[in-house]
Amino acid sequence: MFKNAIVSLMLLGAAAPTFASEEVNLYSARKEKLIKPLLDKFTAETGVSVNLITAKADALLKRLQVEGKNSPADLLITTDAGRLHRAKTAGLTQPALTETLKELVPASYRDSDGHWVGLSLRARPIMYVKGKVDPTELSSYEALTDAKWKGRICIRSSSNIYNQSLVASLIAHDGEKATEAWAKGFVANFARPPKGGDRDQIKGAASGQCDIAVANTYYLAGMLTSKDNAQKEAASKVAVFWPNQSDRGAHVNVSGASVLAAAKNKANAIKLLEFLASDEAQQWYAEVNGEYPIRDGIAVSDTLKSWGEFKKDTLKLDQLGTLNPEAVKLMDRAGWK
Ligand SMILES: [Fe+2]
Repeated sequence: MFKNAIVSLMLLGAAAPTFASEEVNLYSARKEKLIKPLLDKFTAETGVSVNLITAKADALLKRLQVEGKNSPADLLITTDAGRLHRAKTAGLTQPALTETLKELVPASYRDSDGHWVGLSLRARPIMYVKGKVDPTELSSYEALTDAKWKGRICIRSSSNIYNQSLVASLIAHDGEKATEAWAKGFVANFARPPKGGDRDQIKGAASGQCDIAVANTYYLAGMLTSKDNAQKEAASKVAVFWPNQSDRGAHVNVSGASVLAAAKNKANAIKLLEFLASDEAQQWYAEVNGEYPIRDGIAVSDTLKSWGEFKKDTLKLDQLGTLNPEAVKLMDRAGWK
């Protein structure tokens, strides 16, 4: 018995050094609670430990630029295809597309050159105040320029990447000229100068400042399941309308990840990417963070189920990045503050 214990200890001792060297350094713009439980699972399954640093997306990009080749980071997780594209064009990332990732992540939701892959989907539909707006009055993002919506729309500022990506998608589909005319008409219908985040637009609608808000669904999901009664009540006053269902589908974006150019643990970074795209991780994501899985056939939460299935825009999302500069300039010309 005693002998066995010594043998076990020796085995543990021998195994420890190799085990410790298996690691991956992750910079994440996702809040720790939205990613850590998955990372723990990954470590338990693979023996690869994850050193996690979380910060705001733009701060992480700056930090990576300052660190350059000496950066300890192997993998970057951030939200919005526009930001993932920024990391790519800044030379911070490298291609890392495996056959497994190709299988798990639909082509629309990853970079054409393999520099980033989407890990969850986020939808940005129209939300309306129940009882004040008849959903049959709504149809598309384009139709929000109609005079009947004058003074009735809440949306955040043009400095926000989600809006820049939405406008980039409109440019991709309708062209720059038509989108500029659209943006002018859209801005003319704003209920108030843009302020606050997506939750504030939903609250604005609930409190009677506007009848329509454009916001990402996970904010609404978060408010509906919030412990804060005021948020819950505000959210219960609005409903989701999926726009453009008779043509291209509702605008979607991703949160995703890039293997970094300076990665010292590239193989482990790819291992983690493949894990995050797996059925197991996708199911967790869809249940906990109110986003949609990156591919069909994965169960979603009851809140997401209650909004029904919808047609998603299949635009290749790297276009949101390439068209971002045009979108920003166009919104500025349209007077979108
Ligand atoms: Fe967000």
